[in-house]
Amino acid sequence: MADYDYDVLVIGAGPGGYVAAIRAAQLGLKTACAEGRETLGGTCLNVGCIPSKAMLHASEYFEAAAGGAMAAMGIKVKPELDLGTMHGQRKDAVKGLTGGIEFLFKKNKVDWLKGYAQFTSKDSVEVAGKTYRAKNIIIATGSSVTPLPGVEVDNDKQVIVDSTGALELAKVPGHMVVIGGGVIGLELGSVWRRLGAKVTCVEYLDQILPGMDGDVRKEANKIFKKQGIEFKLKTKVTGATVKGKKAVLTLEPAAGGDAETLEADVVLVSIGRKPNTDGLALDKAGLAVNQRGQIETDHDFSTQVPGIWAIGDVIPGPMLAHKAEDEGIACAENIAGQTGIVNHDVIPSVVYTWPEIAGVGLTEEQAKEKGEVKVGKFPMLANSRAKTNHEPDGFVKVIADAKTDRVLGVWCIASVAGTMIAQAAQAMEFGATSEDIAYTCHAHPTHSEAIKEAAMAVTGKPIHI
Ligand code: FAD
Ligand code: NAI
Repeated sequence: MADYDYDVLVIGAGPGGYVAAIRAAQLGLKTACAEGRETLGGTCLNVGCIPSKAMLHASEYFEAAAGGAMAAMGIKVKPELDLGTMHGQRKDAVKGLTGGIEFLFKKNKVDWLKGYAQFTSKDSVEVAGKTYRAKNIIIATGSSVTPLPGVEVDNDKQVIVDSTGALELAKVPGHMVVIGGGVIGLELGSVWRRLGAKVTCVEYLDQILPGMDGDVRKEANKIFKKQGIEFKLKTKVTGATVKGKKAVLTLEPAAGGDAETLEADVVLVSIGRKPNTDGLALDKAGLAVNQRGQIETDHDFSTQVPGIWAIGDVIPGPMLAHKAEDEGIACAENIAGQTGIVNHDVIPSVVYTWPEIAGVGLTEEQAKEKGEVKVGKFPMLANSRAKTNHEPDGFVKVIADAKTDRVLGVWCIASVAGTMIAQAAQAMEFGATSEDIAYTCHAHPTHSEAIKEAAMAVTGKPIHI
């Protein structure tokens, strides 16, 4: 240790990095975390999961009041939008949580090295003009917005924005065009639609939400259309010009054909995210990135250079905060000589729209490629709690191996799908069969009963349909 400043130096204080740093310190390792942002918590706490959920939650209330859902339950109100206060509560949520990480760093004696780090050798980095040697270095630099050539983002002007800009719009746009029908486009498109914007979503593929189960993608499309989002599928944006406070986009069919133009007050570019490795001077550490710009690791999160590890959005796999956190814990445990494992087959994903969309494990399409499957489906319309709460949209789908009955995937569209999916993930982690879920007693009346009934439907025996 004498030669080293730290046992573990983490680069990046997002959910991957800050969790890895805290766990390493808990395990008795002398730990530092370099972060260039002014606050800890990374994309997730500063400009991602947390502020987007603050706006989703608030706008959901507004729509319930403005759109008649509350009136249908006998609560008649005429809401007035105070966007300043809505943004204020978003900022408060971010401030509280990022400050909380700073407190946890102090509590666990993790040194925050303020500044952007770059490698100076295999076991040293420079931060704000000082060089630190560390026995282990964890790269947790996360990801940033993928740019779209010809559609230049300028968040300050609030005309063509990325997700960070879309969280902070000073007024509700008349017409918002979302480029990309993925998670960000649908979540932030929903926020502004609920607050009064007309939203058009331009998606390159023939369906929204790539990577999700086929039935879920179709049903989600139907629900969002019903809510008023207009979709232009199989369409690409080839350019944009900003004229004063408006943007004019040029669109073309994805397969080629005649171009058309589309005018917007705000354009949200949300076509994916790319790993952050620029500026790290990876070559000085002897590291290279793969074709997708990611740092490859072994299952224990070690890279090809001994002593250098990587986790979170910067390595392959879904770009999700909880995946990054679990990798952070496992990586720190591996550095400490324990056996830290992440089961990448069971990482839930949730889209926090209304209703929520959640899944874990294989899609039906993926499962069928691997062998014979049995599928059970149960509509939320037949779930007593959802029906009572006026939440008829959606379903639960359980996909099981035809021979062993082992659950391979679970997909839900339901108001609280994000909460419901946790039990499916836990069941799959324990190797459950659909019968195990079907014979587990679920409290009544809960949305989760729909998971039990979908599991019962795998063998053809649901009660309520
Ligand atoms: P990040 O959170 O990106 O953190 C990396 C940190 O490293 C950053 O703070 C960066 O400043 C710092 N850094 C980079 N380079 C250096 C350097 N050289 N030196 C020092 N510091 C450096 N995921 C979910 O699971 N649920 C959600 O609801 C969700 N919502 C999202 C909403 C939006 C709008 C966005 C954009 C993302 C959302 N995500 C969500 C994704 C989630 O934010 C990421 O998967 C997660 O933050 C990845 O964590 P990470 O630690 O790998 O990286
Ligand atoms: P995404 O990968 O989810 O969706 C991007 C969409 O854009 C895809 O449907 C893709 O086909 C489409 N697209 C790509 N190029 C296009 C083009 N030129 N024209 C039109 N469409 C095009 O990416 P998104 O929404 O930007 O989110 C990035 C990441 O952030 C996701 O990987 C997700 O994991 C994470 N995230 C997670 C959230 C959650 O867990 N609730 C919320 C928000 C983001």
